[in-house]
Amino acid sequence: MLQVRDLQAGYGKAEVLHGISLDLPKGEVMALLGRNGMGKSTTLNTIMGVLTARGGAVSIDGKAVTGARPSAVARLGVGYVPEGRRVFPNLTLRENLVAVSRASAAGPWGVEAVTDLFPALAPRFESMGNVLSGGEQQMLAIGRALMTNPRLLILDEATEGLAPVVRKAIWSALTRLVGEGLTILVVDKNLDRLLSLSNRVVVLERGRVAWSGDRSEARADRRDIEALMSVQ
Ligand SMILES: Nc1ncnc2c1ncn2[C@@H]1O[C@H](COP(=O)(O)OP(=O)(O)O)[C@@H](O)[C@H]1O
Ligand SMILES: [Mg+2]
Repeated sequence: MLQVRDLQAGYGKAEVLHGISLDLPKGEVMALLGRNGMGKSTTLNTIMGVLTARGGAVSIDGKAVTGARPSAVARLGVGYVPEGRRVFPNLTLRENLVAVSRASAAGPWGVEAVTDLFPALAPRFESMGNVLSGGEQQMLAIGRALMTNPRLLILDEATEGLAPVVRKAIWSALTRLVGEGLTILVVDKNLDRLLSLSNRVVVLERGRVAWSGDRSEARADRRDIEALMSVQ
């Protein structure tokens, strides 16, 4: 579903990604880990075409998307929940959801299915984006990505800075989506949750892959992974 080969990217004179390679088969979940500033968001933004790759290649379901615009990547079936959510502040929650539906593929996701996944959103449907709590905004951002009926869902800092009750709702939702066969690439810091959700784990260190393996290898190597994630 997603293949990243020797991806390089940066900002101005700063080279940030020095050759990232990832392989995410259909129906699987990959956790992308690493301390702050190691290049996780840069990797996701380069996959999405928000940032232009300086080298290497990205393909979605066998189609090369290197250098493509974010809208073209989205049209291939990639739903993106970026760090910071980017909810429209002057639209209601409902309007935020349906705003993306014009660009959406046919499929099971609609306002009702999103409400079923995140029942806490229901009483807030007519509230404006700017009065929603951080947790409500994050559930909305995930719901909005699902409204496009993606084949691949990419989440950056899925539960960062959210209240425990919202974190729990998001992990339950992701578990359900995995059960439904959705392919997911997720950045988060909760190693326990990620190890139970993911088939594959990749840890970045200064723009390079420092560790990668499947779930059982990750469990066996947990100390090494924790060391790569700990603040030094
Ligand atoms: N917009 C930007 N302009 C310049 N440097 C950036 C920008 N965004 C990120 N960086 C730098 O790129 C590196 C990787 O950042 P990032 O991909 O956001 O890391 P992570 O998501 O793993 O915390 C860091 O050194 C960060 O300071
Ligand atoms: Mg980040």
